[in-house]
Amino acid sequence: MSVSIAIRKKAESLREQIRHHNYRYHVLDDPEIPDAEYDRLMRELLALEAEYDELVTHDSPTQRVGDAPISAFGTVQHELPMLSLANAFSEDELREFHRRVMERLELEGDAELSYAAEPKLDGAAVSLLYEDGVLVRGATRGDGSTGEDITHNIRTIEAIPLKLIGKSYPARLEVRGEVFMPKAGFEAYNARARAAGEKTFVNPRNAAAGSLRQLDPKLTAERPLDMYAYSVGKVEGGQLPARHSEIVDRLRDWGIKVCPERRVVLGVEGCLAFYKSIGERRNALSYEIDGVVYKVDSLQMQRELGFVSRAPRWAIAHKFPAQEELTVVEDVEFQVGRTGAVTPVARLTPVFVGGVTVSNATLHNIDELHRKDVRIGDTVIVRRAGDVIPEVVSVILDRRPKGSRRVQLPKTCPVCNSHIEREDGETVARCTGGLFCAAQRTEALKHFVSRRALDIEGLGAKLVEQLVAIGRLKTPADIFQLNATELSELDRMGTKSADNLIASINKSKSTTLARFLFALGIREVGEATAASVASHFGRLANVIAATEEDLQRVPDVGPVVAARVRAFFAEEHNLEVIARMQEYGVVWQESDPKVVAEDGILGGKTFVITGTLPTMTRDAAKDLIQAAGGKVAGSVSSKTDYLVAGEKAGSKLAKAEKLNVDIIDEADLLKLVSR
Ligand code: IVH
Repeated sequence: MSVSIAIRKKAESLREQIRHHNYRYHVLDDPEIPDAEYDRLMRELLALEAEYDELVTHDSPTQRVGDAPISAFGTVQHELPMLSLANAFSEDELREFHRRVMERLELEGDAELSYAAEPKLDGAAVSLLYEDGVLVRGATRGDGSTGEDITHNIRTIEAIPLKLIGKSYPARLEVRGEVFMPKAGFEAYNARARAAGEKTFVNPRNAAAGSLRQLDPKLTAERPLDMYAYSVGKVEGGQLPARHSEIVDRLRDWGIKVCPERRVVLGVEGCLAFYKSIGERRNALSYEIDGVVYKVDSLQMQRELGFVSRAPRWAIAHKFPAQEELTVVEDVEFQVGRTGAVTPVARLTPVFVGGVTVSNATLHNIDELHRKDVRIGDTVIVRRAGDVIPEVVSVILDRRPKGSRRVQLPKTCPVCNSHIEREDGETVARCTGGLFCAAQRTEALKHFVSRRALDIEGLGAKLVEQLVAIGRLKTPADIFQLNATELSELDRMGTKSADNLIASINKSKSTTLARFLFALGIREVGEATAASVASHFGRLANVIAATEEDLQRVPDVGPVVAARVRAFFAEEHNLEVIARMQEYGVVWQESDPKVVAEDGILGGKTFVITGTLPTMTRDAAKDLIQAAGGKVAGSVSSKTDYLVAGEKAGSKLAKAEKLNVDIIDEADLLKLVSR
């Protein structure tokens, strides 16, 4: 069948619209349309392409994961070498760099020299070749002269355009940048791998590099990769501006994603101010950086300065304190958490990493300890990134000493001697002692008094530990029987602080049902679940009386949570503790339970809501669904019937697509309930 001009035009128009929205979403971070609308454009294009084979072009936004697995990587000769950067590890080294630059350029005043300052992204360097605006090749840096052809994988990264937008781009343009895995994606990937007993990534950099070196592009497509461009390589058939910062701006206009944290700064003081400001925000950035880079902004000056061996004289990387260091495992101990989870913790020779001295690092669970084969005496890499708990990432096998000792999971709890058990298929081992175990008791009490639970100010971790140790606190109810006299006799407690503490204990007695349920520390019942259960049942008595079936009617409560809640309230001991607390005056407002119209028009259907809806809040949409007998869950699974997607819908949308869940928007939802 020959394709009419009208249909060709339609396909091209859809592609252009999609490219434009990709640009708004990825490059400007300012989408114009809701994701559902974007998906509709994509589906329309897919349908056209399915109908007319000859319409499918290699640069169509539908063709990202089209390539078949390859058997080996081809090589790419870089036309211009991909250089590395010299490092400055201190302010002095930076000042020295600046002095040399000034001297070579024969400049006098600081103010004459502007630098383009950028974060130093911690991922893998790539080269992207665009010919007539079409992405034709993606390559790794390799040794700087020869890299690997990873075009099939590069094409799967949605932040990288398959075709440039705008008109004035050079006929041949090599873009260089860093592919990275954002922190959240990295953490989520590792958490999933850990739960499945699979190998985890050591750090986001290895994750990015490893993901790019997959032979099967389908695997790369599943990894949450992103990219920022930071320079150009070979450019032919077009003019670029005379300053580095302007070139990067130009790349952005052509639809290439660049880091928003770039600044042009004056002289070395400007560099230092940038370093400080980025350093302060390092943990808050959504991606990993290991320093900042300063580049002499003027290309003319860059040419005058030239290169030494593999690095330019006109740029330097100013590094942040390392987040990974070597140290020795002196011992491995097992800690018991609130839910009895037994976690191996490495006691380390203290080492300065990520800006603090670290002497303990988690090994997550016994399987992971064995997978990494960590032994006492080993030299290991510890990593402390931002506010994440320090962890042992790997062992330096070459440095394993003769007498290194393997570690086994203890059979009994190191705190209370109860049996340690592992449920089938679980990676986590648990102490079976329950509240008999002082460790679990202490952690449960710390949770009970924490800010998001009963919020008892002044009752900190140390004090809880002290009160448990002297046997004064056994259950949360005991907190409400403490008196100022006994408190003032404790270490580091005066009458004043004792009085204050009693006042905050009294204050905490008026709470909400949601907080109270959360504070009880029922396994799997987080803050959000506690709030849903509270609002659904209205009264504690209803929660206690609820069957697992009743509980599963609560949005977000599945069989596992329902079973945990049921088990908690089936325990006589727990009911006694609650009764005592009520006796001592703990109160909250109760309300009538929500009426669930099970036989409503949406009866038996499960919805997930994501993104910003055009007119309703998500809560309003939820009420609407529930009033019509539907269930609203927090995450997409094979049981989800509909995903209601609004603007800026993210991973839930992707998951729904993968699972073939019906994706609807607010208008569709309104139609469903008014049938
Ligand atoms: S410019 C001639 N800018 O650092 C300068 N590199 O040691 C070439 N990197 O392989 C690189 N962020 O992977 C430049 N904003 C940035 C960077 C950056 C990270 C990496 C890049 C390169 C390595 C150089």
